[in-house]
Amino acid sequence: MLNRMSEVETRARTVLVTGASRGIGEATARYFLDRGWSVAAAMRTPGASHLAPSNRLRLYEMDVTSAPSVTAAVEAAIADFGRIDVVVNNAGLCLVGALEEMTEADDRLIMDTNVLGAMRVSRAVLPHMRACGGGRIINVSSVCGQMTLPLYSAYCASKWALEGFAESLAFETRRSGIKVKIVQPAVHKTGSFAGQIAGRAARTAHPDHAAFSDGVLQRMAAVERSAPGPEAVAKAIHHAATDRWPRLRYPVGSRGILLARRMMPSALFVRVVRRILNAW
Ligand SMILES: NC(=O)c1ccc[n+]([C@@H]2O[C@H](COP(=O)([O-])OP(=O)(O)OC[C@H]3O[C@@H](n4cnc5c(N)ncnc54)[C@H](OP(=O)(O)O)[C@@H]3O)[C@@H](O)[C@H]2O)c1
Repeated sequence: MLNRMSEVETRARTVLVTGASRGIGEATARYFLDRGWSVAAAMRTPGASHLAPSNRLRLYEMDVTSAPSVTAAVEAAIADFGRIDVVVNNAGLCLVGALEEMTEADDRLIMDTNVLGAMRVSRAVLPHMRACGGGRIINVSSVCGQMTLPLYSAYCASKWALEGFAESLAFETRRSGIKVKIVQPAVHKTGSFAGQIAGRAARTAHPDHAAFSDGVLQRMAAVERSAPGPEAVAKAIHHAATDRWPRLRYPVGSRGILLARRMMPSALFVRVVRRILNAW
């Protein structure tokens, strides 16, 4: 078993990571690079990246909400590296707030990025992976892909949809040797929470939700302050890329709460989340 694992580790392989400009995507690009992989780091603004291009690391412009942008980046990465073995659908967006504080444009943007974005990238890379006889598509979901939090309704909807997409896709790609995986991080410190708070502040707070939202977000901020960095997620993504077990889901810091979600009666679980987040 160990020999087979090290075989997988040592073969020169290429990973394409979306949303690699910062946070979990950037940490993932570095993690794979440090382990000898070639890395196609896809992002909206390569000019602003902290990643230094080399013969094993190339940056590609990719906005996952644009099919031509996705196709162009995937084709360029294949032309440069010869093949893509693993795709990490990491690019994601989280807007926080009560539903009445969010607009339909917010909802559409979240779905377009978190769900349709992963579908576009997968659709672009599948013919290539099938021609190569295999590959892996790793979808960065969330603890919110199998449970919910207050004020995250659009985000939760997008991650539940992403999990449904990935789980279904796994059926049809199996015969081509293409494995689909889902990584489910709990809270990790990446700066995305600060962005969520700034985004909410820019919207008009609904008077009926203001006190509730402030209370919940204070608790979320406390959780985020003591959260680990994105490297733990990068490690789990690498594990999903190299694991030989036919496993679909990889929780990262979320195993306990997702187990509780499955085992506990729903009403009791909701009370626990309310207590943790002061969401009465
Ligand atoms: N951090 C956490 O606690 C946590 C927990 C659970 C799940 N996740 C998931 O992990 C993933 C990464 O999160 P993160 O915390 O690293 O977030 P982040 O720091 O906010 O980074 C998000 C990344 O997605 C990119 N992105 C957003 N919209 C895009 C688009 N239309 N096209 C291409 N790239 C786009 C951003 O690019 P720009 O730099 O161009 O904006 C950035 O690189 C997301 O899917 C998120 O839902 C995170």
